[in-house]
Amino acid sequence: MKALIQAAHKAYECAYVPYSQFPVGAAILLEDGSILTGANVENASYGLSMCAERNCLFHAVSAGVEKPSIKAMAIATPQSHRVSPCGACRQVMRELMPLDTPIYLSSKESTETVTNDALLPLGFDKDDL
Ligand code: THU
Repeated sequence: MKALIQAAHKAYECAYVPYSQFPVGAAILLEDGSILTGANVENASYGLSMCAERNCLFHAVSAGVEKPSIKAMAIATPQSHRVSPCGACRQVMRELMPLDTPIYLSSKESTETVTNDALLPLGFDKDDL
């Protein structure tokens, strides 16, 4: 997991954050041992900005990654306090990764572990349609 967390920290170096100055990196570990990353990308039309977690997962899906092959996700920030994914990202994470996926929330100083399921209790999914 150390390599995954390091990859998430490296990913925020590519964040495009001229408005918030708040870089976030995300990385997922696949069953073949490979790692895919994403960073947040902002826009002058603020609402068009995209979080690191969703960029990472959309990157994975677009590359043909299937849900069961995702084994873990790390989300990193250079701040001293760890970042916690926004509600929109939690909804996307719930749909695109297994519910038991461990999520590592990593700051400059420490890392906290939660499960995907715990991040969004009573989440909306395809069975609710
Ligand atoms: N952000 C993320 O990329 N992930 C999170 O988990 C929280 C927030 C981004 C969105 C925006 O670019 C900046 O951080 C400040 O909200």
